[in-house]
Amino acid sequence: MAEPIHYSKLGLVNTKEMFARAFDGGYAIPAYNFNNMEQLQAIVTACAEGKSPVIIQVSKGARQYANATMLRHMAMGAVEMTRELGVDLPVSLHLDHGDSFELCKSCIDSGFSSVMIDGSHLSYAENVALTRQVVEYAHQFDVTVEGELGVLAGIEDEVVAEQSTYTQPEEVEDFVAKTGVDSLAISIGTSHGACKFKLKEGEEVPPLRFDILAEVEKRIPGFPIVLHGASSVIQEYVDLINEYGGSLDGAVGVPEEQLRKAAKSAVCKINIDSDGRLAVTAKVREYLANNPEEFDPRKYLGAARAETAPISNSRVPWNGCHKPRLNRYA
Ligand code: G3H
Ligand code: 13P
Ligand code: ZN
Repeated sequence: MAEPIHYSKLGLVNTKEMFARAFDGGYAIPAYNFNNMEQLQAIVTACAEGKSPVIIQVSKGARQYANATMLRHMAMGAVEMTRELGVDLPVSLHLDHGDSFELCKSCIDSGFSSVMIDGSHLSYAENVALTRQVVEYAHQFDVTVEGELGVLAGIEDEVVAEQSTYTQPEEVEDFVAKTGVDSLAISIGTSHGACKFKLKEGEEVPPLRFDILAEVEKRIPGFPIVLHGASSVIQEYVDLINEYGGSLDGAVGVPEEQLRKAAKSAVCKINIDSDGRLAVTAKVREYLANNPEEFDPRKYLGAARAETAPISNSRVPWNGCHKPRLNRYA
C-alpha cells in the first residue's frame, strides 16, 4: 500500500458542512454511484452546471473494478474538472456499503472523505461495535461515517437481503450515541436495484414509511438521515432497454414526489445507482442497435454520457438538479 493520503490534498470535503446546509435548506445532496470515467464525467458536468454539491460514491466492487489508485486520481480529476467548469463545488468521495473495518480503513488511507460501514445485517450489538471501530479511526482524519439501521430488500453489492426490515426508531438514539456516526441510513420501504416494488396490474407504488422517518426525526432531531435504494427507475429507459434486446421485467422505482418529500425532511443524502445504470445501458443498446457498423467505444459510451450529463435535458434521471429542492444550496 502506498503512503496514506488525506482527502483534503485531493480537493475533497467530508459531508459535515454539506449535510448541515442541506438540513437547513430542506434539500438533499445527491450521492451518485459510478464505475467508470464516463459516468463520473456526466455526474460532474451535470452537478457543475446545476451548482449542486455532490457525493460521488463507489461500492467495494466498483473500487475493485476501477482500481484504488486510479480511483483516487479520478476523484482528484473530478474536483479539478468542476473548477475548470467555473465552479468550486463541494465534492465528497464516499465508500458505499463498506462491509469491514479493513475496507473502510483502506479507503480512508487512500483519500476517501466519507465512508459507510454497513453493519445492518449484523446483530445490533455487533453493528454498534463495528461502526464504533470505524468511527474511531475515521474521525482521527476528519472523515465522516455513515451507519445503517434496518435492512433494505434487494442486492447491496455482495450482501443480498431477501426481505426488508424497517428501521426501529427505538434504536436510533442509542445507536447514534454509542457509535458517534455522522449520518444514519434507514429502511423505510425503498430497496436496491431496478425492481423495488412488486405491483399487480393497476396497482400504484405504495408510499414510503414516512411515519417511521418522522419518528426517527423526533428521536434524533437535526441528525442527517440517508435514503438508499432511491432510484426513480425512469420508464423510458426501461422501455428502451427492452426495445433494444434487453429483458427487464417489473422494473419500478421510487416516484420523485416521494423523494422531494423526503428531501424536505431530515433526509440529507439520496443514493442513486440504478438510474445511472439504466440510462447508460439504454443508450448503449440503442446506439449499437442503430449503428451496427460502429465499434468505437467513444461513440456508444459518449452517447450514454451525453444522455446523463446535460442539465438542460429534463429527462436526465440522476442529476439531482432536476429534482427541485432535492440538492441545491438554498
Ligand atoms: O447499493 C449498492 C450499489 O448499488 C452497489 O452496487 O456492488 O453492484 O456496485 P454494486
Ligand atoms: P438504487 O438501486 O435505487 O439506485 O440504490 C442505490 C443505493 O442505495 C446505493 O447505495
Ligand atoms: Zn445502498
